Amino acid sequence: MFPRREFLRRGLLTSAAAACSPSSRLFAAPPPVADSRIEILLDEPLGTISPDIYGHFTEHLGGLIYDGVWVGENSPVPNVHGIRQRLVDELRKIQAPVVRYPGGCFADSYNWRDGVGPVDQRPRRTNFWASADSANAPANHKFETNRFGTYEFVEFCRLAGAQPYLAANLRSLTPEDFYRWVEYCNSPAGSTTLAGLRAAAGSPEPFAVRFWGIGNESWGCGGNFTPQEYAVEFRRFATWVPGYGQTLSLIASGPDSFNWAWTRGFFEELLRKGPGALDSVYGLSAHYYAWNLSRGRTDDWDKGKGSALEFAPVDWYELLREGQRIEELIEGHWLIMGEFDAKHRVKLIVDEWGPWYRPGSEATPGDLLEQIPTLRDAVFSAMTLDIFNRHPEKVAMANCAQLINCLNSLYLANEDKFCVTPVGHVFAMYAAHQGGQSLRSVFSAPDVRYDRDGKSAAFWGLQGSASLHDKQLVLTVVNPHVSEPRETTLHLGAARIASASATTLTSSDIHAHNTFAQPAALEPQTKSITLDGATPTFVFPPASVTCLRLILV
Ligand code: AHR
Repeated sequence: MFPRREFLRRGLLTSAAAACSPSSRLFAAPPPVADSRIEILLDEPLGTISPDIYGHFTEHLGGLIYDGVWVGENSPVPNVHGIRQRLVDELRKIQAPVVRYPGGCFADSYNWRDGVGPVDQRPRRTNFWASADSANAPANHKFETNRFGTYEFVEFCRLAGAQPYLAANLRSLTPEDFYRWVEYCNSPAGSTTLAGLRAAAGSPEPFAVRFWGIGNESWGCGGNFTPQEYAVEFRRFATWVPGYGQTLSLIASGPDSFNWAWTRGFFEELLRKGPGALDSVYGLSAHYYAWNLSRGRTDDWDKGKGSALEFAPVDWYELLREGQRIEELIEGHWLIMGEFDAKHRVKLIVDEWGPWYRPGSEATPGDLLEQIPTLRDAVFSAMTLDIFNRHPEKVAMANCAQLINCLNSLYLANEDKFCVTPVGHVFAMYAAHQGGQSLRSVFSAPDVRYDRDGKSAAFWGLQGSASLHDKQLVLTVVNPHVSEPRETTLHLGAARIASASATTLTSSDIHAHNTFAQPAALEPQTKSITLDGATPTFVFPPASVTCLRLILV
């Protein structure tokens, strides 16, 4: 150790030398080192981002419709015609483009006629999910009152500014039932008995429903079909459906996750009657849930799941790793679809996606499949939306499962209590991408390294997506590292930034989440920022989702 006087002398000499020396920077505090870069290729557009990839899903399941969406006209909870006002307001804010209904598995046990006509004459039925409901579930979760039906759903969509996407029952109803539902929704005012029934409910004018799913998960709860059997059924349901002046976009029930054989088998059989069959398919639906957090120990659906609220950093990374696989799923099914449809007229519709945890974190005990989303689910959802943004030519629609009081919900509600979840905040931040030109972007950052049962595992260090809207460039970025920020240089070629703002969702606690008692525990923060020069720098905090809005000169 130096005596104090010697220390001071050396210090002075060093400063004097540094002041005269060309290599003075060697002695100054080192500038922060950017270890990451994002290059946005403004002249490499990938296609228009369909607003519909920011879609939602509502099923007659647990507390989703009854309590979540529908509170009833006489409820003390603020409502519009029985529909929860706050939910409508929130959906307007995030520009919700489309909502899928009435399921899910529920769809293939549902007769749409039960949910139309005079309210007091609607039958009470056993809900598809009744046997899964817990003993403390309210009666209207197990026994469907049909108070909320087609008219109410379309009204909900109209209030929210979204398009309805109806899933038809293929397992237990006929093609006639399907096209009568289309008739109820779309036949012109005063034309048919069903148009009269619709008018009696309050809408003489047609609903003009464009999106129709033909069954749901037809490989499982939707009928246990083989892809070949389903293709035959699809042809039958899709033949000569009257549209009443509304182009119908029919969506075929597609594969579960990575079931390539389903996609191949479906198209092989569909095309057996000739290439014209492709004209009847707008999209092939694919479902993907990230649920297995067992780190390869099991494939058991119940044992493999993790906790929504109690998790270690390794579980954080494992969930993201599972979620990242959706990109492989999109690319894999797309490749197979191309074997049958070289021009790729049929698009992918990812109409169920999100993390799925084991029961135990319900915001309202008794609500089936309800879980409380945390910052981890926000990062997961942002990562997923970025993946959809990066494949605009492939993914035409996606629907997060599910909107409220369910799996990866944007909102939680119970009677007069309501909160926006971190997932809801991500949808608000990402709405800026809708309708933009997706741009090819290259993200480089050191991988995240983590211990996976004694072995080192890697996950990407920074990812995101970019879209251009005239002079506005929207860049969304996920930093998945639980503790390290990423100092990043931005490269935009010759373009220069006139002004910029950054919205960031993060917390020092990776478990951060909102509850009815603390609805604002985790909220995004927005600020104006300065991004100067040819290669401006931005620091992405650990465990964060960021949306940069850059106005270009
Ligand atoms: O979202 C919950 C369920 O998951 C849906 O009803 C079904 O389609 C899927 O298996």
